[in-house]
Amino acid sequence: MALHLEIEAIQKVYPSESPEGRVEVFHRIDLSVDPGQFVSIVGPSGCGKTTLLRIVAGLEARTSGRILLDGRESEERDRRIGMVFQDYALFPWRTAVRNIEIGLEIQGMPQQKRRSLAMKYVRVFGLEGFADKYPKELSGGMKQRVAIARTLVANPEVVLMDEPFGSLDSQTRNRLQDFLLRIWRERKDTILFVTHNVDEAVYLSDRIAVLSPRPAAVCGIFDVALERPRDRTGPEANRIRKEILELLHRPHTSPVTF
Ligand SMILES: Nc1ncnc2c1ncn2[C@@H]1O[C@H](COP(=O)(O)OP(=O)(O)OP(=O)(O)O)[C@@H](O)[C@H]1O
Ligand SMILES: [Mg+2]
Repeated sequence: MALHLEIEAIQKVYPSESPEGRVEVFHRIDLSVDPGQFVSIVGPSGCGKTTLLRIVAGLEARTSGRILLDGRESEERDRRIGMVFQDYALFPWRTAVRNIEIGLEIQGMPQQKRRSLAMKYVRVFGLEGFADKYPKELSGGMKQRVAIARTLVANPEVVLMDEPFGSLDSQTRNRLQDFLLRIWRERKDTILFVTHNVDEAVYLSDRIAVLSPRPAAVCGIFDVALERPRDRTGPEANRIRKEILELLHRPHTSPVTF
């Protein structure tokens, strides 16, 4: 069952040794993701995308604001929220299947049960024959599939993805985008997906939130009402892409909504 995610008035300030004594990453971020919706965040490097996902996942403290799931504040390290990290963050000393099952192990699921569930994900993710390989023996695309499988096997209802395809070549990236859409269509998770890549955001998302440079704010929201599978270079995709790129390159003064 997918949940509604509401990021409400999130402020984040880091203490710093700069003359001001503080770095304000966000002054105020508000963003709502409907149940089962796929929302992407794009924004310049260093604007705070990873910080925002880590705050939503409960891995990073916020200065103020609230994270709501179906209208109630999320719990600390809420199990209903899963995160796929910017680097794969796999454990090099564990095989693929043992990386996939680690969350279930931490939850205390008995070995046989968690192994059979993890093997199901090995099959769904096209990793047959690689279950017993170590991360260094896997390609980038395979490592990324292991990382996504590891998050999804724990059955979260909100999935946060931090540039999951950022380090892949464009063909592998395109294939994994389609793969992710197939999995999402079946699971109907609520997804908050961070990317640098505007093409990727337009191809995947129902909505796109554009962040301004630090202190970041949501400076534009775009609805992508295109049928899937999408034409990556169709006129409507091109139009949305152009508007987002213009917004990203514009000096930021006040929020704009489309
Ligand atoms: N622990 C910390 N202490 C102080 N400042 C921090 C800390 N962690 C992150 N920052 C600062 O917060 C800002 C946001 O960082 P973050 O990694 O969230 O950006 P990002 O948008 O994910 O960047 P990228 O696109 O390069 O991944 C950066 O300016 C960074 O220097
Ligand atoms: Mg980041």
